[in-house]
Amino acid sequence: MKSESISPVKSLSGPVEVPGDKSISHRYAMLAALADGTSELRNFAAARDCHSTLACMKSLGATVDVHGTTVRVTGHGLHGLKSSWRTLDAENSGTTIRLLSGILSGQSFRTKITGDDSLQKRPMKRVITPLREMGADIFARDENFPPLEIRGGTLHAIHYQTPMASAQVKSAVLLAGLYAEGATSVTEPAATRDHTELALQEFGATVRKSGHTITVEPNPTLRPVSLDVPGDLSSAVFLIAAASLFPDSNLYIANVGLNPTRSAILDFFQQMGAAVSVLNLHTKGGEVVGDLAVKGARLKGGLIAGDLVPLLIDELPMLSALGPYTEQGIEIRDAQELRVKESDRISALADNLNRLGAKVEERSDGLRVEGRGAGPLRGAEIDPRGDHRIAMAFAVAGLGASGETRILDSDCAAVSYPTFFSELRRLSE
Ligand code: S3P
Repeated sequence: MKSESISPVKSLSGPVEVPGDKSISHRYAMLAALADGTSELRNFAAARDCHSTLACMKSLGATVDVHGTTVRVTGHGLHGLKSSWRTLDAENSGTTIRLLSGILSGQSFRTKITGDDSLQKRPMKRVITPLREMGADIFARDENFPPLEIRGGTLHAIHYQTPMASAQVKSAVLLAGLYAEGATSVTEPAATRDHTELALQEFGATVRKSGHTITVEPNPTLRPVSLDVPGDLSSAVFLIAAASLFPDSNLYIANVGLNPTRSAILDFFQQMGAAVSVLNLHTKGGEVVGDLAVKGARLKGGLIAGDLVPLLIDELPMLSALGPYTEQGIEIRDAQELRVKESDRISALADNLNRLGAKVEERSDGLRVEGRGAGPLRGAEIDPRGDHRIAMAFAVAGLGASGETRILDSDCAAVSYPTFFSELRRLSE
């Protein structure tokens, strides 16, 4: 297994672009495979997760051509997928298995889908329950875990109240709704990322939103698209955090997706006193895009709880690992979801923060990380538990620690950001 050595740096500077957005790439790949004709998706995510989605769509009969970050997907219409003789492999990707479960529920054939060891431990009941209610037959290990076997068919529309704020659950139901008889609605307890809604509209489906309720009309003809995927803000966050640590940093991150259901992290950084400014704001393919200029700053720290949690769920590892560099520390509450991500992120964060000498209290729904007053960090060996965001968060934390920090199994970063470590080295001074 590869590992990466991280040593203290003076600053992070230069121009950089982060890979295409993972969430948006998944959705474009799936909808393109359901459209009538060939879609061109530019700046498609380099993330391994999104290539798992492409492989699944290919196994289901779509034609997929990958030329660097330009991906052409040819679909044969909403009802044009074919059964796959092999078990689909979502590998590490929760978005792939949960969103595809919605699409597979509308197919008249049986499909088996599974994933790696981490994915096989992640809960699927949250999508199984509404999809069964719509009429799909779904078998799962212990009624909850992959492999899933899905036999779809004619679905009926439901109005589903999601028990947890999850974009993946909302999306699975909306995608199944494309195949339902009648309009399907989802009401979520708090806003989550709306890329599925926006992408459905780009491909020609009819989607309405009223408060926290989203409704999709069934059986649209999905048209092929020619779209640019914006850079992934959730990847940019690691670089924003790293640059913020050093007074002499001067980083310019071009072409980042700033969808309001994702950009709460920028408001939070600004609230903490970070020097992040947004430039060249514009809209492309329904998504808000802009550039980010980042300089060093003294970060105050703060509390993340309640409805803010789903809006920056993927950023909680980085914010926690920044905790020891802030004035007041970082506290996270109401985030029990973190325990069922690619790893148990609360436990992985607490363990690795302890290794660096930080003062941290692990709680069932979050953690409290003490700020600067608790003393400086010292380099240590980090076990990311196969979780890309834990590996990258601690690589950043290691930049400000004394001595060497070694990130074990560093290749896992490729799940979302394959060039992360080389970019970090290139931008460091
Ligand atoms: C995602 C939704 C979130 C997020 C994940 C990507 C998506 O998961 O954590 O990284 O693309 O819909 P949940 O829906 O489980 O909160």
